[in-house]
Amino acid sequence: MNKEKIIVTSALPYANGPIHLGHLSGAYLPADIYVRYKRLKGDDILYICGSDEHGVPITITADKENVKPQDIIDRFHSINKESFEKFGMSFDIYSRTSLPEHHETAKEFFLEYFNRGLLKEKKTLQFYDESKSMFLPDRYVEGTCPKCGNEGARSDECENCGALYEQTELVNPVSKISGNRPILKETTHWYFPLSEFQSRLEKYVNETNEKYGWKETVLQYCRSWFNEGLKDRAYTRDLDWGVKVPLDGADGKVFYVWFEAVLGYISATKELSKLRGNENLWKEYWQNPDTKYVAFIGKDNIVFHTIIFPAMLMAWNDAGKEQYILPQNVPANEFLNFEGKKFSKSRNWGIDAIDFLKEFPADPLRYTLAANLPENRDTDFYWKEFQARNNNELADILGNFINRTFTFVHKHFDGVVPQKFELEQRDIEMIELLNQYPEKIADYLERYKIKDAVTEIMNLARTANKYFNDSEPWKSVKTNREKCSTSLNISLQTIYTLAELFSPIIPFSSEKIFKMLNSNFVGWNESGKENLREGHKLNIPEILFVKIEDSVIEEKMKNLGSTSELTAKEKEVLPQITYEDFMKTQLCVAKIIEAEKVNKSEKLLKLKVDLGDEQRQIIAGIAKAFSPEEIIGKKVIVVANLKPAKLMGLESQGMILAVENESGSLNLLEVDNNISLGTRAK
Ligand code: 2FM
Ligand code: ZN
Repeated sequence: MNKEKIIVTSALPYANGPIHLGHLSGAYLPADIYVRYKRLKGDDILYICGSDEHGVPITITADKENVKPQDIIDRFHSINKESFEKFGMSFDIYSRTSLPEHHETAKEFFLEYFNRGLLKEKKTLQFYDESKSMFLPDRYVEGTCPKCGNEGARSDECENCGALYEQTELVNPVSKISGNRPILKETTHWYFPLSEFQSRLEKYVNETNEKYGWKETVLQYCRSWFNEGLKDRAYTRDLDWGVKVPLDGADGKVFYVWFEAVLGYISATKELSKLRGNENLWKEYWQNPDTKYVAFIGKDNIVFHTIIFPAMLMAWNDAGKEQYILPQNVPANEFLNFEGKKFSKSRNWGIDAIDFLKEFPADPLRYTLAANLPENRDTDFYWKEFQARNNNELADILGNFINRTFTFVHKHFDGVVPQKFELEQRDIEMIELLNQYPEKIADYLERYKIKDAVTEIMNLARTANKYFNDSEPWKSVKTNREKCSTSLNISLQTIYTLAELFSPIIPFSSEKIFKMLNSNFVGWNESGKENLREGHKLNIPEILFVKIEDSVIEEKMKNLGSTSELTAKEKEVLPQITYEDFMKTQLCVAKIIEAEKVNKSEKLLKLKVDLGDEQRQIIAGIAKAFSPEEIIGKKVIVVANLKPAKLMGLESQGMILAVENESGSLNLLEVDNNISLGTRAK
């Protein structure tokens, strides 16, 4: 079979915090499994990743800690690099976007567009924080999503409903650095004409899907973007951290982080080429129509890899010079939650990879995450499941089968591979099964169905255990040594196959098994054959998987969420105000008299409240916490003089006061029934 030339990338994680288990299972572990499998197939593959070191996520973290962005990226680049190494990620390079090679690559693309007159220079109004004298790009502003009412939506992108909008459409915008409402100030930016690429992008997505089978979830995202209509997008920002815009008069401006981050895949491959002493190596992949490019990401990155990056590459290719390849597949995953809730550092909910790997070896984690990947829907990591997968599957099925086989062979056959004699039906079936397995698993992996592949490989270990039991070598060793010898030979061949097929998933254990077998990889396609010759000397077995005690897991569960730490926003101390300032907010008692769900919104309820002498409509983001029925009749506090705002096209004439507790559930501020409607709270 022809060897494929492949580039695999995993999303470049922001170097503003530690990688946690959710990240690992979204964009990293599935890619690593795929890459390791492809290497065993003998394909010519490069696996590229690195830190994303620019953009507002970095500067906001630096602002919060009162240190320089450089300190943040240096710290988290090395923590994340170490986490990935311990986890067994087999990147060919883990680069970083602060390197000069990356800056040069980003500038080259930008100037190519600029010089061809592709970019549109536009003056627009952007949010500006007067108290800090700075523009507020991207995540510096939060507010309520104009489409779904999600509070805490980012300035131009809602994580909840995926909507993209102009910063200025955000409802109730707030500066994240001062807590003030920003003003609008004019500034100049360079826009990439994404709208002009819409029909080509649709064609690309449809045709690539037809040929290579994209995931339905990914296609749905793309379609909803196309249905909305692509809009031109500014590729520059008013910030001083990032890749400087190489134009006269563009002081204080850097590239939009997503414009350059995706180019980080290319610049990291250039870095790798230098390290390998062949400066043009990267071209053999990125500029070769025979290369297959697969981009592994989490669902929040879909648009950047299926629309923005392909459009950028098309725009480059339009010049008629070197032609870049476009992603052939983008097998994006959904999210992994932790014990039923989102990972949250401030709520101590979840665990970072680096901490996990200090306590447990990588393979049980790799296996647990791989067996439960969020391929088609969000899934959860549970400590108890981790324990069960380790104890009941890795230790009791795989480990036990290997251990009993080795122990037996050392005890009764001098630690050498026993001879194979006449085969019984059971032996023939086991050998046939081994023969079919590499192709069967390859078929799943080629279609990025990694979870199914993992389940099936463990099923082989299950069958192997049953084969050992049914063969009863402890009896035949006394009654029919040839039969015993045959079944142990086949058990060892099975261990060989398991070691190779499992190696992309649990590489550290696989290496140990090969050491015990005193053998090495033979290549994926050959791995189901009988690879151990009779008389081959084996090594002494070692324990592969140590069982995890209940007490260890209980301790983990106990410490979960045990923090009263508030979010940075909650902890923030705002400047003092006068009594007069406070009295500018009109807080009144009101009764909820009607409530209904807002169409197509998970979060919003449409309420009618009675303030005594008037009734108002309020659109409140509380639908996840309360049903319309249970809320009717409650007496609550409303902000009565808030400027009306539109949410999902409905006017909201005020706001209801509520507090969120540590686990994210809501409490309304209620008052006793004997307080008259309209009474002012002060
Ligand atoms: O979401 C993130 O963490 C981004 N830093 C991913 C970037 S992927 C690519 F563009 F580099
Ligand atoms: Zn939204």
